[in-house]
Amino acid sequence: MATKATTDGRTKFLLDERDLPTKWYNIQADFKTPAPPVLHPGTSQPIGPQDLAPLFPMELIKQEVSQERWIAIPDEVRDVLRLWRPSPLYRARRLEKALGTNAHIYYKYEGVSPAGSHKPNTAIAQAYYNKKEKVTRIATETGAGQWGSALAMACAFFGLQCKVYMVKVSYQQKPYRRIMMETWGAQVVASPSPDTQSGKKVLEQDPNSPGSLGIAISEAVEDAATRDDTKYSLGSVLNHVLMHQTVIGQETKKQLEKADDEADILIACAGGGSNFAGLAFPYAADKLTGRNKKLRIIAVEPSACPSLTKGTYAYDFGDTVGLTPLVKMHTLGHGFVPAPLHAGGLRYHGMAPLVCKLYDEKVIEAVAVPQIATFQAAVQFARSEGIIPAPESAHAIRVAIDEALRSKKEGKRKTIVFNLSGHGHFDLGAYEAHLAGKLQDYEYPAEKIAEALRGVPQIKG
Ligand SMILES: Cc1ncc(COP(=O)(O)O)c(C=O)c1O
Repeated sequence: MATKATTDGRTKFLLDERDLPTKWYNIQADFKTPAPPVLHPGTSQPIGPQDLAPLFPMELIKQEVSQERWIAIPDEVRDVLRLWRPSPLYRARRLEKALGTNAHIYYKYEGVSPAGSHKPNTAIAQAYYNKKEKVTRIATETGAGQWGSALAMACAFFGLQCKVYMVKVSYQQKPYRRIMMETWGAQVVASPSPDTQSGKKVLEQDPNSPGSLGIAISEAVEDAATRDDTKYSLGSVLNHVLMHQTVIGQETKKQLEKADDEADILIACAGGGSNFAGLAFPYAADKLTGRNKKLRIIAVEPSACPSLTKGTYAYDFGDTVGLTPLVKMHTLGHGFVPAPLHAGGLRYHGMAPLVCKLYDEKVIEAVAVPQIATFQAAVQFARSEGIIPAPESAHAIRVAIDEALRSKKEGKRKTIVFNLSGHGHFDLGAYEAHLAGKLQDYEYPAEKIAEALRGVPQIKG
């Protein structure tokens, strides 16, 4: 029977297609000091646009370094985003009731995209700019399979070929993700693969390597760098990728206004940092400019791969082999291979430099949570709200629930907003393991991290 709260209170806050944002928000415009420069992997000197040209179309390179606060979203990109955007903001009334909390809990649901997560928000933009600059083929990596699916779909829309290096553990855990990518026309291989020198090198050292995002990035970068017809595309970490995701936070602001509510706490999981940035950056702007000092913004990562909470803030490679430029970020060491967690999209040794800068300046907070507690939160959410979340997104749910319970205990009513970055329909193997009590928590891998950190280049800055 419906409760009073569900009949009287509104549950969904929807925007019209006309409310789809027309611009991306570039947080670099509001930084008091510039973001640390990106360095050349060979010379350790700041790189210029030409250094990145073999990998990315020029328009994306310009966005990467732009200091403009707002960048117009091309109509061709908005036309595709309109297929599922604006995405809904839900008030999690049933979860609130289950928790008996006085907190208001909202979630922005990005799982409504055809690929099932926030990733198409940038995939569409990246495919568009590649097409515009006459690129015919794109190479990429995928961890959870969400990014590969998003790019495969985007390439299908813009008539581009797509090769996806899929982290081996995910390739084995999620055959349906692979089939989804193939349905959109992409070619998918398990990484480390014998198709690249980087993959071969890893396989020689460890034929049973489960793979990692860092290794798969090395393969995709090598693929793009060694072919004239191919550029590389990354689903997170880079400044322009984070910026493409800011449609999420811009919409959320409008939706909360409709709900006549204001966020006290924002929460999102962070693998490379893009869904977090998407929700958080338009709000972080208000913190940076002093308009909203009280807001807490929390990034959530797995205890087994805790780059923000336990990593070093230093220049490091974005990939395992050391092919990418050096970026200043919180890193566990580019040689660190995380345990085969089910949240494949959070198995990355580093974090987006823009997110790291905000963390270093204490504009945002970070928390690490273990795998089993994360799945418990996911199941509680599914049983009250219906949606089965992606294991990555479930990290945000864990902390949203913890904060809601704290709100109840302290008797201070908080409004908590989290990003439900994707659904978990292709992660049911992980749910099966959880329900059968077979999931394990991985200890904080202190020794492995210490060893990997010894491999971080010694660069001042
Ligand atoms: C559903 C989902 N959420 C979050 C992430 C983490 O990536 P990011 O930190 O870039 O949002 C992924 C990555 O694959 C994902 O699939």
